[in-house]
Amino acid sequence: MIVVYDSRTGLGQAFAQSLGYPSQSVKEKLTQPCILVTRNAGYGKIPWSTKRFIKKHAHLIKGFVVNGDRKRFAKTFCGASPLIVEKYGLHHIRDIEGSGQLADQEAVKAFLENL
Ligand SMILES: Cc1cc2nc3c(=O)[nH]c(=O)nc-3n(C[C@H](O)[C@H](O)[C@H](O)COP(=O)(O)O)c2cc1C
Repeated sequence: MIVVYDSRTGLGQAFAQSLGYPSQSVKEKLTQPCILVTRNAGYGKIPWSTKRFIKKHAHLIKGFVVNGDRKRFAKTFCGASPLIVEKYGLHHIRDIEGSGQLADQEAVKAFLENL
């Protein structure tokens, strides 16, 4: 199991790396099951790099986390999450703010341990 991140400014990467599992970017070759930590782009939309990753690896993605910014994007906070569920049918694990809190780490670790 590996944690894959699509992170532009490093917040999602930091969360991915806080979980105690191996982690890598969406840009790297994937050869095993994973969870995905992604973000929002274009006001509640799915980043193109995430779309490309999901299309290629949907069968290996056990669930996903979206990190967003509630202060700047209150109306569309983590708007990418329902779109990813609707468009690709992936399992939504959690929405987090920035690089997440301890409670977010614990919830996502619990999900990973139960896989
Ligand atoms: C153009 C743009 C639009 C964004 N729209 C949203 C949004 O609608 N909702 C949200 O929660 N965050 C939004 N964000 C915030 C991103 O999700 C945030 O930049 C991201 O959490 C940073 O993660 P990263 O450090 O892993 O790249 C937006 C950011 C950018 C640059």
